[in-house]
Amino acid sequence: MRYIKLYVLLGLLLISCKTVQETATNTIRTPKQQIVDTREIQGGMWIPSLLEGMNEQEMQLLGSKMTAKDIYDVNNSSLKDAIVHFNGGCTSEIISPNGLLLTNHHCGYGAIQSHSSVENDYLKDGFWAMSYEEELANPSMSVTFIKRIDDVTSQVFEGVTDDMDEVSKSKLIDQNINKVAKATQKEEWQDANVKSFYKGNQYLLFVTETFNDVRLVGAPPSSIGKFGADTDNWMWPRHTGDFSMFRIYADANNKPAAYSKDNVPYKPNHYLPISLDGVEEGDFTLVFGFPGRTNEYLPAVGVDQIVNVLNPAKIEVREEALKIVDSYMRKDPEIKIKYASKYASIANYWKKWIGENQGIEKSNAIEKKKELESEFSKIVEEKDLAGYKTLLSDFEKLYKEIESVSLARDYWIEVAYRNVELLAITFRGFQLEQAYLRGGEPAFENAKQSILGRLEGMYKNYSAVVDKPVFEKLVGLYAAKAPKEYVPQNMQGVDFSKLTDEIYATSKLTSLEGAKEVLSGSAEEVIKKLNEDKAYVFGKELHTVFYNKIEPKFQELNLQLEAVQKQYMKGLMEVFPTKRFFPDANSTLRVTYGQVRGYEPRDGMYYGTTTYLKGVMEKYVPGDYEFDVPQKLIDLYNAKDYGQYAENGKMPVCFIGTNHTTGGNSGSPAIDAYGNLIGLNFDRVWEGTMSDMNYDPDICRNIMVDVRYVLFIIDKYAGASNLINEMTLVHPKK
Ligand code: ARG
Ligand code: GLU
Repeated sequence: MRYIKLYVLLGLLLISCKTVQETATNTIRTPKQQIVDTREIQGGMWIPSLLEGMNEQEMQLLGSKMTAKDIYDVNNSSLKDAIVHFNGGCTSEIISPNGLLLTNHHCGYGAIQSHSSVENDYLKDGFWAMSYEEELANPSMSVTFIKRIDDVTSQVFEGVTDDMDEVSKSKLIDQNINKVAKATQKEEWQDANVKSFYKGNQYLLFVTETFNDVRLVGAPPSSIGKFGADTDNWMWPRHTGDFSMFRIYADANNKPAAYSKDNVPYKPNHYLPISLDGVEEGDFTLVFGFPGRTNEYLPAVGVDQIVNVLNPAKIEVREEALKIVDSYMRKDPEIKIKYASKYASIANYWKKWIGENQGIEKSNAIEKKKELESEFSKIVEEKDLAGYKTLLSDFEKLYKEIESVSLARDYWIEVAYRNVELLAITFRGFQLEQAYLRGGEPAFENAKQSILGRLEGMYKNYSAVVDKPVFEKLVGLYAAKAPKEYVPQNMQGVDFSKLTDEIYATSKLTSLEGAKEVLSGSAEEVIKKLNEDKAYVFGKELHTVFYNKIEPKFQELNLQLEAVQKQYMKGLMEVFPTKRFFPDANSTLRVTYGQVRGYEPRDGMYYGTTTYLKGVMEKYVPGDYEFDVPQKLIDLYNAKDYGQYAENGKMPVCFIGTNHTTGGNSGSPAIDAYGNLIGLNFDRVWEGTMSDMNYDPDICRNIMVDVRYVLFIIDKYAGASNLINEMTLVHPKK
């Protein structure tokens, strides 16, 4: 086993690695003159509080000059104090002593959109606050710091025994988690929550601090921040300046507070200095952020099901929806703004799943998983490890059983929840009726208030004209393709075109006023009105199938699958004790490290590490929806007016590295060997999007925008030198 060799060697290497030298592209020579293949010490999303030992050694071998404590320290300020979970889904980092936050343009997109109108279109033209007073408040936005991480595994497992059934186990674990969270020592403005790692084999507690006054500071026009849009999304070479800036505000004591004009810029424990020296191939890179979800330890049958059954279904639904929405967005600028954010998020995973499927196939991931599984079985037999003997056949059986209900569930989610907006609205109504049936008037009132609170937001970006053809197409698709037992009666043998006309001609739920009218009055009146509405009546049957048939069956089988997966994870770690196992991403703070590296997407083709402004000009299509370039940027390019941000007379735009990232890592800082900001993570390359299930160091690359391009846009393009002046710019290489 090559891993064993490697770790014997790493064991010898506790000494400093100052003399580590680069040999060929993928190898390094250690101080003891041993050659290590760097591909074997990359990949993985590691827990920042547990870096000492293996991770610290690996990072240093890859060129880092930092210690584990420089990255995460509870008692002193460390890098982690500058890393901020951005609004639940993205990452951001603090880059000034005044709480200035950097994240992606696509992470700030919803906020930028919310301040935009056809007359004042910040999506199109960009936005720059030249003083604190000009910064724009975002009422529903929040950002979260991690103050401390503690292992609470033994408390969470208290009283849990092997002979308990899965439902009781899971109940007791939830109770224990609540107990642990409640008993946590923390300040009153802090929160505590417990998360599961290694598929439920380890539990960690996070003490967090959340700020709710976060203001928009700057965003480039979409022709920079979203340059290349969906055509270039998930692709290399890339030329997108995918960044936007916000600022955290705190009360007079620097503590979290609701928005108030009296709040002041937050003073962080740490902010990232910014390197002006750039990167070259082989340089160490660390990406620090909040990756959302990976599935690195699925069995071959599980991957097979995703790739061959679930992904194709979801891809088809989205493809149909996107075609329709796109045609309306191109015709009508108002619709373009309304649908910009929704369209981008639907298109994003549509394209990702296509790349993921291709990558899994090309890298033979399923075969490789099978090989690992037979090696696993062999050792389990040899060592007679009773607890692990039936796992693989249990997987086979359960995946077979869950297949049709998983597929139905994905169809319901994609059609009724994500893409046909009118059906999503009827689902709210359905939940309201359910609340009444279960909890009477009080439950109804609660549910109604929550819907009313969201109603304006839901309809602000709604157009029945766009939604209607989507309804017709997707409902037809569900009827034709979802497993028969999950297709309700009212979808069988129907003329969907006629049905769609009737529903959109009569339903009150296609407009805000209509919906308000339906929702007015007593519980009984509201429910009566709902049940007279053709859209509601239609949706209700579909949602009933989901509620009564799909979800209970799925949850029951999934609980069993999770139990097998937990045991399999434990088994893998026991059977292969020298392999590197990281816990799957779960939206908690992680470190991933690697190097700046090009890659070979196909035989005879090599992709370089860096793109330049020249490439923006090569892609420029005047007036195009995706590839237009603002005149000011063209002028700066022609004049080569790059200030202190150029590299040998050229303006770098993006670069790639081997860091193992996923959704949620958007906006994560790319950090150099010394702890300085060098880039901003925003995407992965097409060939490597499968890294969520199968990271391959040869072709999985994350894409980062070079921080010098960010600074150049802020300074030279936008003239916001007020922002540059707040930052600390450094020259670590000089
Ligand atoms: N692919 C990147 C990510 O997963 C960027 C997405 C931006 N959205 C888009 N449709 N271009 O978030
Ligand atoms: N763009 C992704 C996000 O929004 C990050 C890229 C990825 O999935 O690797 O988090």
